[in-house]
Amino acid sequence: MTSLTIARPDDWHLHLRDGAMMRAVLPWTARDFARAIIMPNLVPPVVTGDQAAAYRDRILSALPDGMDFDPLMTLYLTEDTDADDVTAAHQSGLVKAVKLYPAGATTNSASGVTNFDNIRPVLERMAEIGLPLCVHGEVTDHDIDIFDREAVFIDRVLDPIRRATPGLRVVMEHITTSNAVDYARAQDDSLGATITTHHLVINRNHILAGGIKPHYYCLPVAKREEHRLALRAAATSGEARFFLGTDSAPHTDANKLLPCGCAGCFTAPNTLPILAQVFEEESALDRLEAFTSRNGPKFYGLPINKGTVTLVKSAPTLPSHVDTDEGPVTVFDPGFDLMWSVQ
Ligand code: NCD
Ligand code: ZN
Repeated sequence: MTSLTIARPDDWHLHLRDGAMMRAVLPWTARDFARAIIMPNLVPPVVTGDQAAAYRDRILSALPDGMDFDPLMTLYLTEDTDADDVTAAHQSGLVKAVKLYPAGATTNSASGVTNFDNIRPVLERMAEIGLPLCVHGEVTDHDIDIFDREAVFIDRVLDPIRRATPGLRVVMEHITTSNAVDYARAQDDSLGATITTHHLVINRNHILAGGIKPHYYCLPVAKREEHRLALRAAATSGEARFFLGTDSAPHTDANKLLPCGCAGCFTAPNTLPILAQVFEEESALDRLEAFTSRNGPKFYGLPINKGTVTLVKSAPTLPSHVDTDEGPVTVFDPGFDLMWSVQ
């Protein structure tokens, strides 16, 4: 196959940031994706419906003329989140999901949740109104090894929340383990799971063997090879519960290359070429569209995009860095030569 036309993709987990960074990175997403679920972990976080509306306006004003892109907004769940505000933001059509960060789990998660009992009323309301919960699934306990934090979260937090809140729609975000794949497969269609670009490509050796690679450090951290293979099998399976959430998370090189560097891989510019190659390697190009363009809208109850993108087999011309007024941001390097371009 040398050309593939698919329904225009969406990104079900994206960090756009704000200000100068947003202006620089947004066009790279808008080029290839029609919509994205926009993460609310700004400083300060996007907690209320009014803040989400203002953030959406800033995104749309940063969008270059002639580009079409629909930001799907989320609210950052805190222990003080007001269920009525969430309901109003959902019913107006503004907010498509609420994001749960365990406090301290990742970048800008200090306002996240410590006591999960305190968010029970909001979760019950979300189950009633059909508003999905996007979950950063890692425990933060210092005695839990960082490579075990996702698996422990499923047992200790996620499964109890789902049992206590029947009907709650949940997205397990950026899953990184075979434990998460197995758990997702055992649930009904109220549960979805996103998989990133980079977790299909790197395992933990890529981060640590032969010298430390800060640009491969993200959260949840990449795991052993057996987990990467389970993720590739899940993503390329065509199963409706698995869909693309790039977790493209730009940080300036200055903030990545520090003694205590930031977590995040910037994959917006080259996600589609990388995915085409991964799916081709798995003899699953015919299932790429399910992963990038069909399964996500189905989970969120949104229409599949009417537009299309065509991928052609030729080496793409992509930058290794994107320049921002805050400094350069390195584009994720998959470690192999890309063979597919977006036409
Ligand atoms: C994200 C970020 O930088 O905002 N970082 C990351 O490594 N994925 C936060 C997140 O999604 O965990
Ligand atoms: Zn993220």
